Amino acid sequence: MRRGMFDLDEVTGRHLDWSLFRRFLRLIRPYRLSATVAMALLPLATAARLVQPFLIKVAIDRYIVPGQLTGLGGVVLLFLAAACTESLLGFWQGYLAQGVGQKITADLRSRGFRHLLRLPVGYFDRHPSGRLVTRLTSDVENIGELFGSGVAAAFGEVFSLVFVVTAMLWLSPSLTLVAFALLPLLGLILVLFRHRMRQAMRQVRARLAELNGYLAERIAGIGTVRLFGQENRTLEEFDGLQEVYRISSFAAIRWDVFLFSALETLSALAIAGILWRGGMSVLEGVATFGTLVAFLEYVQRFFAPLRKLSGHYSLLQASNASLERIFELLDQPSEACGTKAPAKGQGGVRFEGVYFSYDGSDPVLSDIDLTIAPGEMVGLVGDTGSGKTTLGRLLLRFYDPTGGRILLDDVDLGEIDPTEVRRRIGWVSQEPFLFAGTVRDNIDPLLRFGDEELLELLKKCGAWKVVERLGGLQGRLEERGRNLSAGERQLLCLVRTLAVNPSVLLFDEATSRLDAATEAVVQQQMERLRHGRTVLVIAHRLRSVQHADRIILLHRGVIREIGTHAQLLAQNGLYARLWRLQHLDINGL
Ligand SMILES: Nc1ncnc2c1ncn2[C@@H]1O[C@H](COP(=O)(O)OP(=O)(O)O)[C@@H](O)[C@H]1O
Ligand SMILES: [Mg+2]
Repeated sequence: MRRGMFDLDEVTGRHLDWSLFRRFLRLIRPYRLSATVAMALLPLATAARLVQPFLIKVAIDRYIVPGQLTGLGGVVLLFLAAACTESLLGFWQGYLAQGVGQKITADLRSRGFRHLLRLPVGYFDRHPSGRLVTRLTSDVENIGELFGSGVAAAFGEVFSLVFVVTAMLWLSPSLTLVAFALLPLLGLILVLFRHRMRQAMRQVRARLAELNGYLAERIAGIGTVRLFGQENRTLEEFDGLQEVYRISSFAAIRWDVFLFSALETLSALAIAGILWRGGMSVLEGVATFGTLVAFLEYVQRFFAPLRKLSGHYSLLQASNASLERIFELLDQPSEACGTKAPAKGQGGVRFEGVYFSYDGSDPVLSDIDLTIAPGEMVGLVGDTGSGKTTLGRLLLRFYDPTGGRILLDDVDLGEIDPTEVRRRIGWVSQEPFLFAGTVRDNIDPLLRFGDEELLELLKKCGAWKVVERLGGLQGRLEERGRNLSAGERQLLCLVRTLAVNPSVLLFDEATSRLDAATEAVVQQQMERLRHGRTVLVIAHRLRSVQHADRIILLHRGVIREIGTHAQLLAQNGLYARLWRLQHLDINGL
């Protein structure tokens, strides 16, 4: 297995419990009224439940053993009333607590997603989508449960423990000692397993995210899997991940089951001890029969919440792991956000000594100095991997340069609101991406156009035929625009960019997937559109930038040649060599 790939989702072993929990409490704050009522109902419900053994004792000692019938009915009625109160309050409490839990989940999910939308693009290079999806689905659900089934329930259990212990001490201190003789052992077990349980839960969360990440990627790339007959290998890898997940889940459950059984055993031992000691006391006449019965009831009610608490404990640990993961996401700094909106400029662009590297070590762009005048059309050519797309991404502020600066209309990009940057710079990407929905939703993202105008734009760009076939502007696109060919997708992306009416146009191999006829239409349209706009055309086919005002040749991240087509040919350097190569190719066809 590729170990490195998994480490991304590991969470540090720091002990953050308390600070995590405080942040969790802050999530509850908007619902504090419901939450408080839910918490306040717990002691009442618990009291109604725990008064029942006492009523049994009264019934036995005062009425049944002395053989007195009058009054017994009253005690039975009281018992019934207590039982009914317990279930009513319990229902109300559960209803409120679960409601708060659901709201916390929904809040956290929206908050997480809102934050995700603002993270720097580089974050997504390091965090596969499937794993992020896990955080926003099952992790936030865990956290929602933490209130309803965790915190509130645990509070109830703790309260009932206190109540039970008080009642036991009041009934018979010596029997209480017998019941609690083994408690230190329980404490020891809890302390010993706390850490392991927590580690186990972290593993479970991380492994689940891994599994989801893998699934999401393979489903998206199903065609490639099939193409190379990778079904079996994919299945094996998947089984490997699944096995690791199963093992870690099982490890977590093992601790859980262990704790549960340990508690069962302790409870049985305590009951045996009380039967023995308490039975003797009754025979010696030191304690009443009713006391013994009530005591046995209380002991069981002491261990039942402990057992439940052990359940809550694992839930708490799971939520803890989920809290760590969701807060880790929320703590990621969002995209640095300048506030300036530069005066509605002409779209002049300047790169000043720009350096960039994706990983901080391998330089992708070095010492880029480039001024593009407003209205100029510049071609950017170079080998695959020479950094052309990267340069475009920097201009869009998807990434920040590691050195130097980029100016748009003489304002540093870092000082401009990134949304503003992207509104001014239109980008037709190498990888056209459309969303599921109508054609209209896709090509008019800013909702600026009426139907007529859109139709006109589509026709001008030669894209109307495609849209017509889909059923017009209301035609449906499948996920990622799957029901279109790559060229058709590219065409729609082009229309989408033009619809935003940016002052700088950035075409990244924007016509590479089009047929010659459509490309000619688009080129014509671009000629018309370029007036009053700055245009940067990235291409590997030199022919498509031949008529640019200037051509820039990028080689391994460095600008090697700048000039017009004729100048560069005359220079007889890299460009001229490339031109001859491509020209020969074309002639040879
Ligand atoms: N998201 C990324 N993370 C890390 N490295 C990348 C990323 N995108 C591109 N690169 C690297 O940067 C270099 C330049 O890529 P790119 O700008 O896409 O080249 P071009 O568009 O000229 O073909 C390539 O060597 C590629 O390996
Ligand atoms: Mg590229």
